[in-house]
Amino acid sequence: AAATLGGLGDDDGGPCIRLVVDETLGDDAAAVGRIGGEAFRVSVSESGIEVRGATPAGVYRGATVLRQLRDPEGAATPIPAGVWEGAPAYAWRGAMLDVARHFRTVEEVRRLIDLLADHRLNVLHLHLTDDQGWRFEVPGFPRLTEVGARRAATQRGHGPLATVEPGIHEGFYTTAELRDLVRYAADRFVTLVPEVELPGHVQAALAAYPELGNTDVGDPVDSPWERFGVNPRTLAPTEASLVFGRAAIDALCDVFDSEWIGIGGDEVPVTEWEQSAAAATRMQELGLASAHDVQPWFTAHFVAHVRARGRTALAWDEVLEGDVPDGVRILAWRGPVAMRAALSRGIEVVACPDLEVYLDYPQSESAEEPIRVGPPLTIERAYTLRVEDGAVGGQANVWSEHLPTRDRVDFAMFPRLAAIAERLWEGGEPAPYADFGRRLSTHLRRLRAAGVRYRPLDGPAPDQRRPGVPGKPLTIEAREHIVAGLVARLLERSHNASAEYRN
Ligand code: ACM
Repeated sequence: AAATLGGLGDDDGGPCIRLVVDETLGDDAAAVGRIGGEAFRVSVSESGIEVRGATPAGVYRGATVLRQLRDPEGAATPIPAGVWEGAPAYAWRGAMLDVARHFRTVEEVRRLIDLLADHRLNVLHLHLTDDQGWRFEVPGFPRLTEVGARRAATQRGHGPLATVEPGIHEGFYTTAELRDLVRYAADRFVTLVPEVELPGHVQAALAAYPELGNTDVGDPVDSPWERFGVNPRTLAPTEASLVFGRAAIDALCDVFDSEWIGIGGDEVPVTEWEQSAAAATRMQELGLASAHDVQPWFTAHFVAHVRARGRTALAWDEVLEGDVPDGVRILAWRGPVAMRAALSRGIEVVACPDLEVYLDYPQSESAEEPIRVGPPLTIERAYTLRVEDGAVGGQANVWSEHLPTRDRVDFAMFPRLAAIAERLWEGGEPAPYADFGRRLSTHLRRLRAAGVRYRPLDGPAPDQRRPGVPGKPLTIEAREHIVAGLVARLLERSHNASAEYRN
């Protein structure tokens, strides 16, 4: 079953690097519950180097390990002899980057794909739309990028003392650029998973096409939102909104080859649907008993459309508050309750519990951390990430409200992402942090050599702080209390479901 992919080195039989595809490695890994396709074995000896993988993806993961056996700064030191082998615990090992709040250029996304691959991660989830910006082209809806991709001011800081400061924030990816990114990622065995937010977090779309909103309530908007938080605006439950949502999904399916297409679904207030007379009439026509039934109605349509395109919808765990049609994979961000709710209903789930993987959260309790929003999330805490048995994997989420530059994204992501990547590769119960901590110093040298502006372990460098910019820090206990409130509807539904079952 082994086939030599190619090699580098001496054609006359001297030491060389051989790349070999060997399916049996995958069978062996799968037999012990690992993901076979990415299994690898790297053997280094006097006579040469062999990188063996179950598939080309496995060879690539092995080559990554081999590269990291070199001196971090690239000094010409010998590679140690030995055998390194492994296979991941989960098929989904990812990171989400929010390019809606603050746009990142194609070059920056390419660099991030390289960094994810260096950490043996295999998913980059791009959060492409939100209230503050729309970042991809949709045929038939040109104003999404003409109007929705630019705002002229933005919130500075968080909480009651936050201000709104003038300054252009703009950008979108052309279809050609996204196709290039898909190829670039595929060459590194990373899947780009796109997401369009529906039917909430849509102010950028409503600025472009106000008629898609609940026009008989609230003030019309002509710009993406300049503030951050949960926006009351939602799509109206109309045929026009479905046409729009389907067009956005089609555009993503035409560009991305990912099996999963994100349809959003988080933090959708029912306020406008409760207040709008037009929505009330429409709900009656549709046989929807309350405003809480409107989001599930949207979800059913969009999931069906993604399925009709031969893909699987990816949605935030709020959709579990309604009936979930077949063919959905859930992003469980609201803690273990959401993860377990999905698993108990036989729904595929990706773990992204905010307390362990929200990399916009401050990295310590120190007031020197820039614009602290949310509870402290130390690297030690990130290393405790526990994916519930049965989940397909997990991902870190990087929301960018307060991360306006590449350096600020680096700061938020690294080195915490290394801890999460290791947890997603290893699976099971977290090992003691100390062993990872010892290895981390070599990894930090690698990150430095790659030009990554990570957060030093002893605290932010002076230029990484944001003195005087207000934040809204929370204790872990306070955040746990908030999450418990957020999942109340979900728990209520689970209890009702089990009561029905008992009756
Ligand atoms: C989320 O953090 N609103 C998914």
